[in-house]
Amino acid sequence: MTEPLKTIDLSEWNAALPAAEAAAATAALENGQVLNLPHLAFTLSPQERRFLSPQWSDGKAKNVSFDPATQQIRHTAAAGDDRSALSALMARYANAARSLVVSVCPVYTDELIWGLTSFRPISATNRETSVRKDDMRLHVDAFSSRPVRGQRLLRVFCNINPEGVPRVWEIGEPFDAVAARFRHRIPAQLPGSAWLLEKLHITRGRRSAYDHMMLGLHDQAKLDDDYQCTAEKKRIEFPPGTTWIVYTDLVMHAALSGQYLLEQTFYLPPAAMQDEARAPLRRLEKLCQRALL
Ligand code: SIN
Ligand code: FE
Repeated sequence: MTEPLKTIDLSEWNAALPAAEAAAATAALENGQVLNLPHLAFTLSPQERRFLSPQWSDGKAKNVSFDPATQQIRHTAAAGDDRSALSALMARYANAARSLVVSVCPVYTDELIWGLTSFRPISATNRETSVRKDDMRLHVDAFSSRPVRGQRLLRVFCNINPEGVPRVWEIGEPFDAVAARFRHRIPAQLPGSAWLLEKLHITRGRRSAYDHMMLGLHDQAKLDDDYQCTAEKKRIEFPPGTTWIVYTDLVMHAALSGQYLLEQTFYLPPAAMQDEARAPLRRLEKLCQRALL
């Protein structure tokens, strides 16, 4: 197993990185390493520390979410001034995460697309009952309602636990091995189904063959109990005050435990990568010998 982490010692969200270091960090991410920033903390003000409580969840969704594009906050019980203050905290994290990605991967700057910001005040252990939604099982990320049509999922995580509790992850085997193992178990995409899902507003936009395959890999890996037990994996602890960046569409990961996490998602067209051949889209097309868009 290759080393799952590449560590860089930044302590500022908008640090200027020498070009060679940025290129190496970007290559590590594109090759499926997790970029670990053990000294990059996101500091909450004394007033903001009140948000470190599960009470701010709406009790239904597992995450509070914020959309940097519209400044809308959702899935929170916070109202009035609390709601504005929590939105401001999440907006500040979104901007910090973007500065960080621009520092570490300057080639992405003009092509980065905002995804959602998420705040996870609920313990990662036993958040879900359904196997498909259980992020304690190894998986690559794929969204059933939001097709990405080959765009990458780049995520910036930060553990903000106030009591020293680490976020514990497992990192699994490389993407190509996962794809080779599970691709024959993925049911065929039925003709007309992508059109119908879009018409019924089950998906936002048309689900491509690529999206179908990625969802298939996500589901098949999670549904395979034997694989979950026996797969090659490495346990990693991210202590509070740690930030990490990862292509979660490429890296097999599971969140075992921890509480109080901030996360920012970015989408990126494969053409904006340093090496497009590293994109899951191109890897799967090579493996299947056909176009997936
Ligand atoms: C996941 O993306 O699978 C969950 C990550 C986390 O909540 O730590
Ligand atoms: Fe995930």
